[in-house]
Amino acid sequence: MKPEPQVAISLPLSDFPNLSLDPSRMPRHVAIVMDGNGRWANRRGLSRHEGHRRGKDSVRAVVDAARELGIPYLTLYAFSSENWRRPTTEVSFLMQLFHRYLITETKRLMKRDIRVVALGDTERLPPRVREALAETVEATRENRTMTVALALSYGGRQDIVNAARSIARKVAEGAISPDQIDEQTLARELTTSGLPDPDLLIRTSGELRISNFFLFQLAYTELYFTDTLWPDFREREFLSAIAAYQLRERRFGAISNGSDTRLRAQN
Ligand code: IPE
Ligand code: IPE
Ligand code: MG
Repeated sequence: MKPEPQVAISLPLSDFPNLSLDPSRMPRHVAIVMDGNGRWANRRGLSRHEGHRRGKDSVRAVVDAARELGIPYLTLYAFSSENWRRPTTEVSFLMQLFHRYLITETKRLMKRDIRVVALGDTERLPPRVREALAETVEATRENRTMTVALALSYGGRQDIVNAARSIARKVAEGAISPDQIDEQTLARELTTSGLPDPDLLIRTSGELRISNFFLFQLAYTELYFTDTLWPDFREREFLSAIAAYQLRERRFGAISNGSDTRLRAQN
């Protein structure tokens, strides 16, 4: 078998290792559970707020790196349905941070032709954040180079419950029959409708769990866990995750055939 071409991709970023990545095996959709901001700050004797503030710089770095690599979809899990249970001071700080991010980043996102979509129960967000989010989504609507999905007040179980309600309503109205419901019917009712399922899930900070993130969508996603805390997760770490992904053999329940690597990390 002919060896796969290995192309060294060099991002125009300083202090960057020349990792060999195969452009034909890039994930189409990378989803990230950005975790560990609090611990990053605690270890430095700083307030948790400082960790979240630093986490914002990682968001910028990873969005730019994903774009440079030509990854068309990136989902960032920024705030879960359960994160509302945190102390009000922390929740308020995070909301302030999201607001500031949306206000300051929209111009950069426009310049980079990045479209922003929102996932989750955004109705729960404070009006100021909701409005800024709606404005960013609207302003970037026509951008095509990459889609960044911001999961804010998102819960995987809630997503499925909402989809079930919507389908039940359609059945009650007689628009569809129960027998017509298939995987696509459900997928179309999820907040991620229109996005491909993630090929790669990254979770930082060493936690080995999903924490109510995408539940339906992750069926065949490759999982990548790293001890690196989110504020330390930058271009280098992102590229390492992509390199690890490219070594995986994706079988989707089928079997591999000896040296047949056709299924490896392909979409
Ligand atoms: C992730 O960092 C950010 C959010 C969940 C909003 P954490 O705040 O969960 O940080 P740790 O897990 O306490 O270190
Ligand atoms: C998951 O992290 C949610 C986000 C990163 C937005 P958490 O810190 O909320 O998860 P648990 O509590 O450790 O499971
Ligand atoms: Mg956490």
